[in-house]
Amino acid sequence: MNVLLGVGGGIAAYKAAELARALMEGGARVQVVMTAGAQEFVQPLTFAALTGRKVITDLFSSASGDATLSSAIEHIGAAQQNDVLVVAPATADLLAKFANGLADDFLTTTYLAFTGPVILAPAMNTNMWLHQATQENMKRLRARGHRVVEPDEGHLACGMTGPGRLASPDVIASAVLAEGNRRYDLEGETILVTAGPTHEPLDPVRFLTNRSSGKMGYAIAEAARERGARVILVSGPVHIPAPRDVTLVPVRTANEMRTAVLDRLAEATIIVKSAAVADFYVSSPPNQKIKKTAARLSLELDPTPDILSELGRKKEDRLLIGFAAETENLDREARRKLEAKNCDMIVGNLVGGDTGFDSDENEVVLALRTGETLIVARASKRVIADRIFDEALRLRLALYARQ
Ligand code: CTP
Repeated sequence: MNVLLGVGGGIAAYKAAELARALMEGGARVQVVMTAGAQEFVQPLTFAALTGRKVITDLFSSASGDATLSSAIEHIGAAQQNDVLVVAPATADLLAKFANGLADDFLTTTYLAFTGPVILAPAMNTNMWLHQATQENMKRLRARGHRVVEPDEGHLACGMTGPGRLASPDVIASAVLAEGNRRYDLEGETILVTAGPTHEPLDPVRFLTNRSSGKMGYAIAEAARERGARVILVSGPVHIPAPRDVTLVPVRTANEMRTAVLDRLAEATIIVKSAAVADFYVSSPPNQKIKKTAARLSLELDPTPDILSELGRKKEDRLLIGFAAETENLDREARRKLEAKNCDMIVGNLVGGDTGFDSDENEVVLALRTGETLIVARASKRVIADRIFDEALRLRLALYARQ
């Protein structure tokens, strides 16, 4: 992987040398670009010696023979030849220039010419970091899809304590290396994901629901998006933010979820039904609040439509992945649901313990249409999400390549 490391003019510039070394240890080739300010803090020679490559220091420098200097149009080449641009330390000035598209030196012109992933590691005085201007710039940069390695809190060179210290070079290096290793194997796919619980009204103020937090489905949507898919996320009511760049379709009840899913089915190439859909609902809830007058209250519940079963009938050659939340007999139930609902994969998870519904982690079994059952050890929901897609792609090859 080729990494362009932009070094801004801050007291933390010297830590960029450690970052360059960590990146190289991780197998990256590193090209350093220093702003004029950065050169006030660290000599270009430090980076040239570390990376074994000339350091780019200026947009308009002459071909003076100085091994640390660059030629006039090199920023275009630098933008084209590198896979990732990381800026550390990203000063308030650089962030403002990036946010507004100002291009008055090598780093800022390269930023505009660069089309790959950008990682920003800000470092500055706490008040500068917390200033509304900087925070507004950060918001715009994040919205552009750039990854931000948040500054640490701590004692700063200016004597203040608070957020603003450059994150550790190892943390920045891992973010850069992870970016470089990212797969784009879901490009061209449209993935329809359902997530969260449903709310089934009992009256205008009460509803039936379950403990689903939506975290598994949101991790699936995020993983799919990051691997290059277009993602439609049909979500029941949850308290977590939607991942960036997915189309969110908020719904409340099982019936609303069914309508939303069937509306978008034609676009989908893979469907992941991780929502914990209520199985029963009150088909005609009263318009007024149920009063506490009766000594005992019975609710008459009707079954909700089984969306997954309906998708199983309508799926054609789409890959259909369902979930099974069980408190016992996980493998058997997962396989039973796979057959009964005509799925290609069932992700079975045990709920009721410390993984499952509200947790950040999960451990699951994957029952596949090929007859295999795979055990996925405990891991973050994001890691599990990636594993589901790894297996889904493998499965599709196995199932449909034969046709
Ligand atoms: N599901 C669905 N529509 C429903 C109920 C469930 O689409 N009305 C989907 C869920 O999104 C999940 C899968 O079916 O992908 C399995 O859900 P689960 O609640 O584990 O299974 P049920 O079919 O409801 O069976 P049981 O409650 O008997 O375990």
